[in-house]
Amino acid sequence: MIVDRIRVHPQLISADDQDEWPWTVPCVRALVGSGIALPAPVTFLVGENGSGKSTVVEAVAEAFGLDSYGGRGGSRYASPRGRSDLGERLRLEYTPRGLAMASGPRAGRRGFFLRAESAMRMMAEKQGRPGYWEERTDLMSHGEGFLTVFESMFRGPGLYVLDEPEAALSFTSSLRLVALLQELGRSGAQVVCATHSPILAATPDAAILEVGEHGIRPTRWQDLAIVDHWRRYLERPEAYLRHLA
Ligand SMILES: Nc1ncnc2c1ncn2[C@@H]1O[C@H](COP(=O)(O)OP(=O)(O)O)[C@@H](O)[C@H]1O
Ligand SMILES: [Mg+2]
Repeated sequence: MIVDRIRVHPQLISADDQDEWPWTVPCVRALVGSGIALPAPVTFLVGENGSGKSTVVEAVAEAFGLDSYGGRGGSRYASPRGRSDLGERLRLEYTPRGLAMASGPRAGRRGFFLRAESAMRMMAEKQGRPGYWEERTDLMSHGEGFLTVFESMFRGPGLYVLDEPEAALSFTSSLRLVALLQELGRSGAQVVCATHSPILAATPDAAILEVGEHGIRPTRWQDLAIVDHWRRYLERPEAYLRHLA
């Protein structure tokens, strides 16, 4: 593990800030004060659209110094995206191994950030660049390309921040990603991943944080609403579909 808690010091938030985005988002507000623990080497953030998952994972990537448009850490080629309000004030509490990485030279700050909103552009821009992948992902299908990126970028101890990496992946490719994430967790790396995928969230030994109106709370895979919905939908789609008309 590299980071075991994320938090924002209350003194960094003024009374005016509290009424402004992103501090109005319950899961962001939940970070102010003692913050939340990242309980395992692989941690998933699960919650409805708009619950704040991207805001949080992007801030974690920024605070660690990963390319904030998506890409590697420790790189001179990082894109000049301004820091977000949360990224600027988010404090990562490091494990001893993480502290050595964060306080050493930039080149030692390893990891990768998959930013949901710019993932396609990142893939087109980084292919063939130093420290990225050589394969012609532009000639591959969307899903094949991303799996190739994951397989070449998920290497070694570092912080891997992923926002809905399942978007392009088939069922079988999602299982391949589960294997990659599990391997990262076992190898001393750390993964923080926002997802809607019950497949990914079932990664063995992973922790799940549920994001919503309540803020952020640890939960179990079998207690997730998405798991229940998927199970019931696959069993009897018409029970859901009749409510749409
Ligand atoms: N730059 C921004 N300025 C203002 N509001 C934003 C901005 N980015 C996201 N939001 C809002 O913050 C909330 C959380 O967004 P987001 O973190 O993208 O949610 P999720 O990734 O869980 O779907 C949403 O209501 C969204 O509309
Ligand atoms: Mg999002």
